[in-house]
Amino acid sequence: MQIAAGKVTLDYDNVFRIVNENDLVSMQKRAYEAERKVKEKTGFGSEFLGWVNLPSVMLSTELSSILEAAKEIRENCDTFIVIGIGGSYLGARAAIEALSSMTDAGKSPSILYAGNNMSSDNLCELIDCIKEKNVYVNVISKSGTTTEPAIAFRFIRDFMVKKYGKESSKRIIATTDKSRGALKEMADNEGYRTFVIPDDVGGRFSVLTAVGLLPIAVAGIDIKSMLEGARDMSKVLEEDDLRKNSAHMYAALRNILYEKGKYVEILANFNPKLHYFSEWWKQLYGESEGKNGQGIYPAAVDFTTDLHSMGQWIQSGRRIIFETFIDIETPSKDLEIPSDSKNLDGLNYIAGKTVDYVNHKAKEGVAMAHASGGVPNMTVSIPRLDAYHLGELFYFFEKAVAVSGYLLGVNPFDQPGVEAYKSNMFKLLGKPS
Ligand code: PA5
Repeated sequence: MQIAAGKVTLDYDNVFRIVNENDLVSMQKRAYEAERKVKEKTGFGSEFLGWVNLPSVMLSTELSSILEAAKEIRENCDTFIVIGIGGSYLGARAAIEALSSMTDAGKSPSILYAGNNMSSDNLCELIDCIKEKNVYVNVISKSGTTTEPAIAFRFIRDFMVKKYGKESSKRIIATTDKSRGALKEMADNEGYRTFVIPDDVGGRFSVLTAVGLLPIAVAGIDIKSMLEGARDMSKVLEEDDLRKNSAHMYAALRNILYEKGKYVEILANFNPKLHYFSEWWKQLYGESEGKNGQGIYPAAVDFTTDLHSMGQWIQSGRRIIFETFIDIETPSKDLEIPSDSKNLDGLNYIAGKTVDYVNHKAKEGVAMAHASGGVPNMTVSIPRLDAYHLGELFYFFEKAVAVSGYLLGVNPFDQPGVEAYKSNMFKLLGKPS
């Protein structure tokens, strides 16, 4: 069975060994109520629903200032450093890695990422490798006080001031709260250009604000098209009927599977360009749902690579998992497998087929094997990996997690659990209260 919404298709034939028609019938009303909470802003955390209309808002307001800044940066540097962690960098990285090509190297500034860990090796190497580069920096933090980006920015700011003197303040762009926080204050004092993270958009929902869009535009990606994809998806996902709304069906099926003991969802791609898309998805689903002792654990694999490692566990390990495949129907590039007169590798039986054809047959084989091994699975497909369809996909998963979180009975928009380690770390570091 399939639901097409926009250009995104959800195929869920392979859940029916576990899910039955009655489950779907009883979920219809619950999904409708969860969706109402999003639409009418009556659920937990409803003050953070700014992402719902964000694509249309951004297209009509901030797009041109982001494009202008990106143009200036592209023309004036060869290295662009994105400082941020979690929701303040994963969306940008997901899009940039998905839509950049190895063969485009040199056409856009190299994008480097800092402040997403506390490894001294990582920071030292980054500072070493930018010494001879022509650098712009985008420091991104909604709170302005997150430890990892704050440490990285302290060193990189120092590097910029030493290298560029007063001109450094033109080369540093801060994306932060409109009026509060340490980064906003620093930006005002130093004269950095700023972009705003709206109050009603949480970090993990911020990829379609300046948080994601500025770095993505600097990478030369068409952010207008990405926003259009997300906007078009937001319209089609207004549909009330569960059987016509792919995001709501995905949310409903996840919850049915969870209630039947499938506690882990594995997002599996068949293109390494989507590795960071999975990292973005893991944060979105993990932070939104893992609370009150509940929530599906979001894991991810890159296939076919990980079929040669995690494939064993998935096929035959504990039956607490289900999978969601991301499928790109048509690749950007393809190759026909040549015939070989000696055929020592035994590949002549697929000579004349393309590499993508083989990849798709692997996907079909995996879906069948895992389903018959007790791993229900769904497939979310897009026609091509481009800015428009990635925009659709971002919005699809955002909408689905909101509905899914409400079905689960949690607040999908807070993250109280991330404070516990911080307060221990601050105590251990002797941070003044
Ligand atoms: O989704 C979230 O809220 C978090 O992942 C934050 O984005 C992350 O902790 C970074 O926070 P900040 O932007 O305040 O530095």
